[in-house]
Amino acid sequence: MLELSSTFRIHRYPAALIDRVMLANGRSVLVRPVLPQDGALHQRFVRELSPVSRYRRFHSAVSELPEATLDYLTQVDYASHLALLAETFDERDGEVQVAEARYVRRTDADEAHVADFALAVADRWQGLGLGRRMLKALVDSARRAGVRRLEGSVLADNEPMCVLLRRNGWKLRIDPDDGRLLVARLELAPVPAPALAPALLPALAPALEAAPC
Ligand SMILES: CC(C)(COP(=O)(O)OP(=O)(O)OC[C@H]1O[C@@H](n2cnc3c(N)ncnc32)[C@H](O)[C@@H]1OP(=O)(O)O)[C@@H](O)C(=O)NCCC(=O)NCCS
Repeated sequence: MLELSSTFRIHRYPAALIDRVMLANGRSVLVRPVLPQDGALHQRFVRELSPVSRYRRFHSAVSELPEATLDYLTQVDYASHLALLAETFDERDGEVQVAEARYVRRTDADEAHVADFALAVADRWQGLGLGRRMLKALVDSARRAGVRRLEGSVLADNEPMCVLLRRNGWKLRIDPDDGRLLVARLELAPVPAPALAPALLPALAPALEAAPC
């Protein structure tokens, strides 16, 4: 008899984050939350980054990701850890990942409102506005999920990333522990609660008056 012993659980997939993004060269890519079966896709994306891009993304000379790291990067819960990927499809290679953006919330109780982020765009797809769009999608998702600050380490000589972050309101300062790094930070204002329809207000007034602050 077939035994189903797997304990892996698929969390609710945030399909609302699926989007089609038009780039400066007229091509479009699909942006979507990562799926557990994206390991091979993600490995190929990382393997095909140039050494410079890979170093800038991982701050080390990795060429391939170990299986456990791939599992960690693709088996996310979409709440404390969200990863968005951008992909395209071509006749020769089929599904091809061209960008990644993710945040991971910190686990310490006093830092639960802070998330660390990462971003990378395939070399041939850089300079087309994809990094900016992925970053915006990530920031919007983090804000809606209640993250109050995004933070990350950027190599101080990573000019494209520094330009992208500064132009989008991020603050960069030298890491006091390592002069080769900058700490990038963006404070996120909470999403305003939806305004109540004026027609509902008279009906709600007694309930609002009775409610404690
Ligand atoms: C940094 C990175 C994500 C930018 O992605 P991208 O898709 O090339 O960026 P975009 O085309 O969206 O450009 C974003 C902004 O940065 C600027 N920019 C992009 N490349 C630049 C470069 N080489 N030099 C200076 N500015 C640059 C653009 O002018 C643009 O500004 P604008 O929106 O005001 O026009 C991409 O270069 C990358 O993946 N690098 C390797 C991995 C990496 O460094 N990750 C960050 C780890 S912290």
